[in-house]
Amino acid sequence: MDWGMKNRMARIINPGTGRAVMVAFDHGYFLGPTHKLEVPRQTITPLLPYADTIMLTRGVLRSSVDPESRANVVLRVSGGSSIVGPDLSDEGLTTSFKDALRLNVAGVGISVFVGSEHERQTLLNLAELVDKGEEYGIPVLGITAVGKELEKRDARYLSLCCRICAELGTHIVKTYYCEDFEKVTTSCPAPIVIAGGPKLETEMDVFEMTYNAIRQGAVGVDMGRNIWQNDHPVAVIRAIRSIVHENFKPKQAHDLFLGLKNEESKKVAGV
Ligand code: R5P
Repeated sequence: MDWGMKNRMARIINPGTGRAVMVAFDHGYFLGPTHKLEVPRQTITPLLPYADTIMLTRGVLRSSVDPESRANVVLRVSGGSSIVGPDLSDEGLTTSFKDALRLNVAGVGISVFVGSEHERQTLLNLAELVDKGEEYGIPVLGITAVGKELEKRDARYLSLCCRICAELGTHIVKTYYCEDFEKVTTSCPAPIVIAGGPKLETEMDVFEMTYNAIRQGAVGVDMGRNIWQNDHPVAVIRAIRSIVHENFKPKQAHDLFLGLKNEESKKVAGV
């Protein structure tokens, strides 16, 4: 691996722990103003100090993130379809490599839709991006998207998707946590991070999912809604960090969350 690629990988996966806390804010690229991400700057700014990398589109990066914030960016570079359009899987590349370089990204991210009508197109987009990534020393995050079909998230399907991403040269794969998740991680030679999916019922559910994913071979998270749709997003991300980088157990992370939440409430009440 060349210096640039290694350096960028180290901006995403902390070489000290071998783990990664990525926070995803890219939902608007097909969902528009997602709940609690309506004003991106307000959602993103408080979380910046606790995210190893942030994942978002160039539009939100330029408009809503201070360039002096020292944020490490994984740029979403695929899109072209929307939640109200005919087919979410009909994605193309939305951002040139020249612009990604201009934005000094740590990596670029693209969705693939395995098993969909546009499987071939999205996989070839990924392969093209990997070619460019290798040329310029920029890691590619391959995202195993399921569109509206959340029930697709099982080990058999996700192993297939993750393995294909790795075979095409993806440097990091983002997928969902599922039952028998070890099957997904052991058969994928590239490091895996998990998305959180729609907001879970309790914080403990989020911490348990994160803990189990790490224990079963993930290197970290690339999570969105379960962090910033919570009323205490900073407390949630700090608890997630404790699991990912400090091997906290779910209960310890939950205690940390409660402590931080109480501190926050006292500050608001001026106590
Ligand atoms: C969705 O296509 C985006 O890539 C999101 O970044 C991804 O789903 C992670 O966000 P969440 O944890 O909210 O699922």
